Amino acid sequence: MTGGVAARRSTEKVAVLGLGYVGLPVALAAADAGHDVLGYDIDSGHLADIRSGRTDLVDLDHARVAVHLESGSLTLSANPMDLAAAHVYLICVPTPLTAGSPDLSMVLAAVDTVADAVGPGDLVILESTTWPGTTVDVLAPRLAERSGLAPGADIHLVFSPERIDPGNGDYPLARIPKLVGGVTRRDGERAAAFYETFVDSVHIVSGPSEAEMAKILENTFRHVNLALVNELAMLCSAGSINLREAISAAATKPFGFMPFYPGPGVGGHCIPVDPIYLNWNAKRTGFSLRLIDAAEQVNRAMPTHVVNRVTMLLNDVAKPVHGSEVLLLGISYKPGVADVRESPAFPIAEKLVRLGARVRWHDPLVRDSQDLHGLPRIAELSAAEVGKHDLAVLHTPHPFYTGALLEAAPLLLDPHGVLAAAALPNVFDL
Ligand SMILES: NC(=O)c1ccc[n+]([C@@H]2O[C@H](COP(=O)([O-])OP(=O)(O)OC[C@H]3O[C@@H](n4cnc5c(N)ncnc54)[C@H](O)[C@@H]3O)[C@@H](O)[C@H]2O)c1
Repeated sequence: MTGGVAARRSTEKVAVLGLGYVGLPVALAAADAGHDVLGYDIDSGHLADIRSGRTDLVDLDHARVAVHLESGSLTLSANPMDLAAAHVYLICVPTPLTAGSPDLSMVLAAVDTVADAVGPGDLVILESTTWPGTTVDVLAPRLAERSGLAPGADIHLVFSPERIDPGNGDYPLARIPKLVGGVTRRDGERAAAFYETFVDSVHIVSGPSEAEMAKILENTFRHVNLALVNELAMLCSAGSINLREAISAAATKPFGFMPFYPGPGVGGHCIPVDPIYLNWNAKRTGFSLRLIDAAEQVNRAMPTHVVNRVTMLLNDVAKPVHGSEVLLLGISYKPGVADVRESPAFPIAEKLVRLGARVRWHDPLVRDSQDLHGLPRIAELSAAEVGKHDLAVLHTPHPFYTGALLEAAPLLLDPHGVLAAAALPNVFDL
């Protein structure tokens, strides 16, 4: 925790680059705190959606957006020229994988945009997740070369990972401690003073690389532990051990254990992606992180395990998967969100189709334009509709999948085990 910092300013001109799951909540929190916020995004269609309240980002309080747009405390722009008025720049753009490798192109484009606008004394913060060393080794020289200003001397440069969990109402942005690592201690303190205006607690680490490592460690920890229970799920699938009960039993130990539960695979823009950033960079230095390799192998095998379970369940009622009607309930990567990035629903659907199954899907949260390998989408789901299928997979247990809808499925595969307690005769675990 920092105490008060002399350089603290009550109101800043803030530019947030990238208004997605991360950038928009941050922009709103900063506007709530009284800052003058410019939301910059290269996708003007997305900006139009935000303006008109059509954005489907989870937890987004459209009324709050409208109030800030109306008052002018939040303005939206796709014009990089508008960034010059800012003194704090927050880069919140995607860091995906392209052909299995880290793709920093959007971060670099955003850095170039900032470099053209930044002035002496300004604060530049990278919030996008990336491998340890990116801020110091990649961003600092690029900013310096293009802006002519030296990070750590003329401008403040900081890495501060975003740790929000979209859909998790227990932990809004303000309640998640903010990690901050500056190129110099002074840079870190400058960023801490800014974040303290809208986050309850800020933790300063010695440099950007420690903050980058902390973020990627958090997500790698989840990735590896999920792989452990996913592999155990494959082991127990063939036998009579109730793995979920065993995990909950292990969790009664008040120390030294943290429960993770198996599922159909890992999805989203973070857990399946971030460990690969870490391992990719480690491999560049000749060091391979074997646990990450193994975890990735196991987690990527889960969709195949789901398809094997579908095949076995159909076989038990004398039906071949070929020609069977299979319904995917939910395709987003986790309940309550519209985000389908890296969702296991894609490989599951693809494998089922390859085996000759007739697959349909339902997910009212995902946007209308979303496609799942061209497969038919069910817009209005009824129990009668569910009952027309030979088997349903509760891929994403959205809160509205309940009661008669689930009871109507002749066979229901529940890869998250959310229905285990109900002990319904048609429901089967992984
Ligand atoms: N989604 C999460 O739950 C989450 C949580 C913590 C951290 N993160 C990290 O935050 C970063 C952003 O993820 P996200 O989920 O918010 O992405 P997102 O896809 O929801 O949003 C990113 C936005 O950035 C815009 N953009 C792309 N290039 C740009 C540029 N050069 N200038 C301005 N805008 C640009 C896109 O148009 C898009 O609107 C990633 O590094 C991610 O790993 C994500």
